[in-house]
Amino acid sequence: MLRALILLLVAFGPHTSTAQTFPVARCINMGAALEAPIEGDWGYVIQRRHIDRIAQAGFDTIRLPVKFSAHFKNGAFDPAFLARVDEVVGWTQDADLNVILVLHHYWDLMDTGTDAHKANLIAMWRVLGQHYADAPQSVLFELLNEPEGTLTTADAAALYDTILSDLRPAHPTRWIIMGGDEWNNIDSLADLPDPDPYDMHTFHFYEPWQFTHQGAPYVQADLPRSGWGSDADRATLSQRFDVATAQNRPLFLGEFGVYDAAPRPDHIRWLRAVRQAAEAHGIPWCHWGFTQGEQAGFQAFDVDRDDWRAGVLDALMGD
Ligand code: BGC
Repeated sequence: MLRALILLLVAFGPHTSTAQTFPVARCINMGAALEAPIEGDWGYVIQRRHIDRIAQAGFDTIRLPVKFSAHFKNGAFDPAFLARVDEVVGWTQDADLNVILVLHHYWDLMDTGTDAHKANLIAMWRVLGQHYADAPQSVLFELLNEPEGTLTTADAAALYDTILSDLRPAHPTRWIIMGGDEWNNIDSLADLPDPDPYDMHTFHFYEPWQFTHQGAPYVQADLPRSGWGSDADRATLSQRFDVATAQNRPLFLGEFGVYDAAPRPDHIRWLRAVRQAAEAHGIPWCHWGFTQGEQAGFQAFDVDRDDWRAGVLDALMGD
């Protein structure tokens, strides 16, 4: 009876059995390092012991933003840069973590949308696909962080299609993640074509923007101080996650977080509520971000104190 019930749940549950093999549940973004023009430019260089701390805290995955486009010339990556990425990937494997390699901050493609940049994206993945052909399945690919600017979801989907045809022969069961425009907005999910097995759709969640990004130095608008946590706020959050799951496809929440200028209790309340909303909808999640650097305000871990910041771990891992 129990077995029949389980089989029924697998067959008719909100997500397909494919989604149940997705290895990611609790993830953290190790940003501000390899997506800086040069690692360290933004004040942080990835350290092996930090990866171990992430594993010890109960995360199973690191999403690793990498500005691959800054290190790719004449069809090849700078070998020293690729070796550094490999070193970090190796540390994640030693710590028994999955790692999502995400092609981050390809602004030139977003800004111009030219065929040359599109061809360059395809070429980078061709080379990365060869380079990681023998990598374990715990290495996941994410094809392009946050399409925006001139790049619509349809443009991105056409690119994904080409890149996937290139990658799939050598990577038939590697999870490959992709999302829609407006910085991976929830509303773009509906315009992505149905995924094939081992394709995973992603979205980022920073709503309401005025709350999560108040005080962030790189946001031009002078956002008014605001809190979060009313019944209406919570209802909106739940509705937005209902929109995310409306296509009934497997999903990954690749980024969510709050800049530090928000009132701290509200910040922690929002983190917990978003994490819980994701879990209630069966969506694996990835907090932005781990530590300082230019995005200091989103940090979960204080490198100087060598410890997690108050409240964050409980909001992510607690009840
Ligand atoms: C960007 C970061 C930014 C974060 C929150 C990420 O996708 O890469 O630069 O801090 O979103 O805004």
